[in-house]
Parts: sequence; structure tokens; C-alpha cells
Amino acid sequence: MPHRPVLLKEVIEALDPKPGEFFIDGTAGAYGHAKAIEEKIAAKGRLLAIDWENTGENYADLAEILRNKNLGKADGLLLDLGFSSEQLSNGRGFSFQKDEPLLMTYDSKQKPVKEILRNLSEEWLADTIKNYGEERYAKQIAAAIKEKIRKSGPIETTGQLAEIVKSATPKSYEHGRIHPATRTFQALRIYANHELENLEKALQDLPKILKTGGRVAIVSFHSLEDRIVKNYFRDYAKAGVMKVLTKKPITASAEEVATNPRSRSAKLRVAQLL
Ligand SMILES: C[S@@+](CC[C@H](N)C(=O)[O-])C[C@H]1O[C@@H](n2cnc3c(N)ncnc32)[C@H](O)[C@@H]1O
Repeated sequence: MPHRPVLLKEVIEALDPKPGEFFIDGTAGAYGHAKAIEEKIAAKGRLLAIDWENTGENYADLAEILRNKNLGKADGLLLDLGFSSEQLSNGRGFSFQKDEPLLMTYDSKQKPVKEILRNLSEEWLADTIKNYGEERYAKQIAAAIKEKIRKSGPIETTGQLAEIVKSATPKSYEHGRIHPATRTFQALRIYANHELENLEKALQDLPKILKTGGRVAIVSFHSLEDRIVKNYFRDYAKAGVMKVLTKKPITASAEEVATNPRSRSAKLRVAQLL
């Protein structure tokens, strides 16, 4: 399925890119938001568009990238977190709907999930699934995974993992609202790619990335990420470093949710460097 940019109008309105400005898209993906930014900053503007999968650059390294490339600070930064719809069929195992190799990493330098499952202890695995997936059956799932590996060797595919998770959880799991493997897959993806650490690093570095008056817009898709963004923005505001432009997170309209289900859990927060 082609990727559709989430909260496109809201992001552009909030970031307010103007002709001649320097913008960064730290998660350029299918270039949906980036294209709209490019149009606004026009011919004289500059856009640095990076993506871990496509350009091999991690947005956590933005401050270093700007320094090494001598680019100066930016007027705006967008982070649209997580993975794109296209990555659900890129063969790297982001989806449990397809039977693919169990990698789940954006770049091949990270340790794939199939190795992580082998190396982590049962307790550590249970904690990871609980903390990053907010999964209440984490203990049972971790036990089933380790038992399977002990008995029949490494878990090689997403399909195998999804089946193990399903068999370790009750039939009535979440009243069928979500597949039993949803939270476990989220947790393992976050762990494998250090997603929360990357986000924290970028948030810490905001004063090194943005000019005075520069705007940052962050779209998150689950509560762990949104909480981190909210807390950083609040602390920056208290310290007089940033002004928060969204008192409450902006969410997708009913129309957008109807046409793009991915937007259902999206939360946009925006702040400005003082
Ligand atoms: C939701 S998609 C972005 C879609 C994009 N805004 C668009 O309109 O097409 C998230 C993207 O972030 C990338 N990504 C995830 N973690 C990253 C990181 N730490 N650094 C850079 N890109 C990352 C993924 O590869 C994915 O393409």
C-alpha cells in the first residue's frame, strides 16, 4: 500500500515553512511531508531529508550531521516517527500479517530480532515486551518464545513468532480488537532499533539543531513516544528554552481516520526554540 503522509495539512501549518528557509525532515520515508515542505521553501530554500532506511542516516545523529556537513542550524525540523506503510512489505519483517524473515531493523547494521530473541534472557525479554509493548501477557509470551527456541532452534520468520505469541495469549485477547502479536512486535521493533533512545537524543539536541525561532514538529504513534515528547517540551518550556505551540496534541480528523487508518493513533506536538 502506498504511504500516505499523516496530518499533512496540520504539520505544514504548524511548521510554517517560508521561501528561502532551511528545513530538515529527519524521517523522510516516502517523501510525502518532505515534498510539501520543499514546495513551501521554494527554489531558494534548502531541505535536508534523511531516513534510516533510504539514506542510512539516523535522526539521532542530526546535530553531528549538521556540523560535519557545515549546514548551520535549521528553521524547522519534522520527525514523523515509526515505520511507513511501505515498510510493511519491504521484506524486513515489520508486519506479522506476512511471513517474512524476522529482522525488523531499519538498517542491516542493527542486530535482527531473530538474534535478539535468542540472546536475551527470558526475564529481560519479558521486561522488554512489557515496557515497550505495554503487553500484560509479556511473561507468558517470553516463556513461550524461549521454550520454542530451546526445543526447536531459532525463530526465523514473523509468521512463526506471531503464532507463538498467539498460542501464549488467551483466545479472547483484547476482545479481538487487535491481533495478539501487535504489542509484542511493537516492543521488539522499538528495542531492536533503539527507537526511544533515538527520540531522546534528538530532543536533547534540539538547541543544537534549531535556530532561535525554529520550529519542531513531532508525530508519534504510541503513548511511550508521545510521553517522551510531551515531557521534553514541558521541561524546555519551564527552563525558558522553548515555547510549546500545542497545548494538547493535534490528532487526525474523522475524515482522515476514515481514509487513512494509520492516522488513528497519530499525535502531533509542536514547539519553537526561543
Ligand atoms: C512514518 S515514516 C515517515 C513517512 C514520511 N513522513 C512521508 O511522508 O513519507 C517513518 C520513517 O522514519 C524512518 N526512521 C525510523 N527511525 C529513524 C531514525 N532513527 N532516523 C531516521 N529515519 C528513521 C523509517 O525508515 C520510516 O521511513
